[in-house]
Amino acid sequence: MKVFVEKDYESMSERAFSLFLKFLPETKVLGLATGNSPLGFYRRICRAHEEGRVSLKGLHTFNLDEYYGIKQSHPESYRTFMNENLFGKVDISDENIHFPASEGEAHSVTAHYNEQLDEMGGPDFQLLGIGQNGHIAFNEPGSPKNSRTRVVRLTQSTIEVNKPPSEYAVTMGLLDILKSKRIVLLASGKSKADAVSKMIDGPMTYKVPASYLQEHPEAYIILDRDAASKVDISSIGERVKESEKFGDGSYFFDL
Ligand code: GLP
Repeated sequence: MKVFVEKDYESMSERAFSLFLKFLPETKVLGLATGNSPLGFYRRICRAHEEGRVSLKGLHTFNLDEYYGIKQSHPESYRTFMNENLFGKVDISDENIHFPASEGEAHSVTAHYNEQLDEMGGPDFQLLGIGQNGHIAFNEPGSPKNSRTRVVRLTQSTIEVNKPPSEYAVTMGLLDILKSKRIVLLASGKSKADAVSKMIDGPMTYKVPASYLQEHPEAYIILDRDAASKVDISSIGERVKESEKFGDGSYFFDL
């Protein structure tokens, strides 16, 4: 895991954006996430596109998840979120946007998404957030490491945090997420501090799906100070291969 601790949300977003620019020439399939965490990152992509510095033409995108049992046009669907915050503002071709269907018979919805993922070979660059209970996408605690796209029932704690339009979701599985060539996980704010410390310091366990990122060869964990506030820096000190303190007070660990 390559862990960046940035001073605030904006610097976290800037760090993610600079990694995105660095890897864009090698990216054909882009895995995308919803939520507050990637908003600043998306704003930067949109601005750079507007200024003619970034084009997403030719890229294929795969979103991690969608609520199940609602219309895709629902104001709280993840598709609506993506249209408003990214797709509507950049030059991605409509036919290159891949999204889990929010309606339809569960088996065909999930089989279709898995086929599309197999066809494209999975994400080269996968963006992730983290849930307060350590979930990634909607792989809630208890999700198997070899899981693929499926319909899941959200846990009570996620329902309380997300206040979702449906208690069911279609999510990409851990297998496909972990197969991504590069993963960039964003976390900001104190509400994420427990999940972040379990992901980095804790044992790798199905109880904290994000902890599986510990064994990924190229996972970039980008945190703001609040999200990093419960990480055991002394234990990191022992495991660290390389650490660097940047002039602006942010720092980097290669674990
Ligand atoms: C939802 C999504 C996750 C996301 C998480 C965190 O549960 N399914 O993919 O990472 O929310 O969202 P936020 O970034 O708003 O905290």
